[in-house]
Amino acid sequence: MSKFILSPSILAADFTKLGESLRYIESKNASWVHIDVMDGSFVPNITFGQPVVAALRKISPLQFDVHLMIENPQLHIDSFAEAGADWITFHYEAAVHHHRIIQQIHALGKKAGISIVPSTPVSVLEDILPFVDLVLVMSVNPGFGGQTLIPRCVEKIAQLNELRMKNGYGFRLSVDGGINNKTIGMAVDAGADVIVSGSAFFSGTLDVDN
Ligand code: DX5
Ligand code: ZN
Repeated sequence: MSKFILSPSILAADFTKLGESLRYIESKNASWVHIDVMDGSFVPNITFGQPVVAALRKISPLQFDVHLMIENPQLHIDSFAEAGADWITFHYEAAVHHHRIIQQIHALGKKAGISIVPSTPVSVLEDILPFVDLVLVMSVNPGFGGQTLIPRCVEKIAQLNELRMKNGYGFRLSVDGGINNKTIGMAVDAGADVIVSGSAFFSGTLDVDN
């Protein structure tokens, strides 16, 4: 396995102890934290918003990898940037003017990511790939932690990695959902270099030495 960035998802943390959870992440030598923002509309679950991001920003130097699973992401990007997000990833399926949103994120001095759910093919991203800093491949249907990785999604990572190499693109390739000791190898081998893990990381079962 080649080297990768681990981005633990606090969706699986104890919500009464988020500060301690960030310190736990730091103690495992991870430099990113994945923050899942859900709106109960794009996905069937609601998590947390800008006030929680802003509170955590005050106590942590981690890179905040904010995954917006929300409708109309363009309406909320400025406030997530202000709250302290470093990487802002929105869903292809939740927006129309993808290029404009990427420009909006860049104008705020932040890194821009785009994500696809398992039913969305890689081909729809081809025109936008030169402009993004990160592509997040959802390997479960978004909304909940603790689900099982859908193997077909690993093929999409390989497809994106091939496009990246062929065209010399600089985006990071992230995988999110169902990552554990059994699945991490195939994701990294396919080309993922940002590994999101919630339940396996916080249950202490993910081997994080990389
Ligand atoms: C799911 C979220 C994921 C989730 C991953 O909608 O986007 O980031 O926290 O959790 P695990 O690692 O438990 O599948
Ligand atoms: Zn996520």
